[in-house]
Amino acid sequence: MHALIRATLAHTPENPFVNARALRCHHDGGLLIQDGRIVAAGDWADVRRQAADVEVTDWRPGVVLPGLVDAHVHFPQVRIIGSLGRSLLEWLNDVALPEEARMADIRYATETARLFVRALAAHGTTTALVFGAHYAGATAALFEEASRVGLRITTGLVHADTLVQEVLRQTPDRAYTDAQTLITRYHQHGRLRYAVTPRFALSNSAAMLEVCRALTTEHADVRVQTHLNENRDEIAGVARAFPDTRDYLAVYERFALATPRTVFAHNVWPTADEVARLSESGASIAHCPSSNAALASGTFPMRAHIDARIHFALGTDVGAGTGFSLLREALQAYLVQQL
Ligand code: GUN
Ligand code: ZN
Repeated sequence: MHALIRATLAHTPENPFVNARALRCHHDGGLLIQDGRIVAAGDWADVRRQAADVEVTDWRPGVVLPGLVDAHVHFPQVRIIGSLGRSLLEWLNDVALPEEARMADIRYATETARLFVRALAAHGTTTALVFGAHYAGATAALFEEASRVGLRITTGLVHADTLVQEVLRQTPDRAYTDAQTLITRYHQHGRLRYAVTPRFALSNSAAMLEVCRALTTEHADVRVQTHLNENRDEIAGVARAFPDTRDYLAVYERFALATPRTVFAHNVWPTADEVARLSESGASIAHCPSSNAALASGTFPMRAHIDARIHFALGTDVGAGTGFSLLREALQAYLVQQL
């Protein structure tokens, strides 16, 4: 099965932070697809020559881009985008966590998963690292919906046993068994992957973080995602909850959760020492510029991350972020860094 598309093609096969001329654009471009895989992409005349007999799908003046990747987004928050006027801990308490508690209702959760997956696809996002729900059933609903639609989704059960409302808490034992079940059912099935997902250090006891360590150790290829250094009140709370650790990152390090398989969301307020240790660890950062502005979290120290060679990628952080468009996140990142 062949398909031949004629449109403007744009992509950045090289790192634009290293090579300022990384953008490749074919104004009159061709894309040749065979059995679901791209076999040629470039100037129309060149691609046409390789496939003279294939019927042409003419999308001019459309633009074809690679599928976008959202490195940090919360599926149970799709309906609460746009609740502005609060900082992180107030917003969690007043807006986000009450909505997340509704995911206990599997019908509501399944409908939310449908909305969420449709919203990703509608914004050109084909791959996402997603915070699941505090409930195994709702998290399974997201896996099922992503599988049905064919998106590449990495997600996991969100863990919390402190701070959050009682109805959102799990015991460490239950968290372990529910996560194991989800890993067995979904990890590495088609395009699905599992990520061990402690919500953040502030909502997890040492016992729960120990469970996260066990899951990550027992399954050598599951990913890890959580939040780090987003807001100054949050950071002060972590210091009170874990008084014997030297900084926020050290809590995750203590449970072997800062690894090359880890994506930490935000990292707006790292110390110089944390930047150096993150670089050593091989962990990556999800940079969420709309969310950082909407919650007045602060300005992401992008230059420090580039200089330390810490990998970072854009995340929308819906629903603290203001929408699903990664193009808008890229613009917001650019504008804020210009300031
Ligand atoms: N930290 C812990 N939970 C959340 C969340 O849902 N959104 C954001 N932005 N930060 C968090
Ligand atoms: Zn988040």
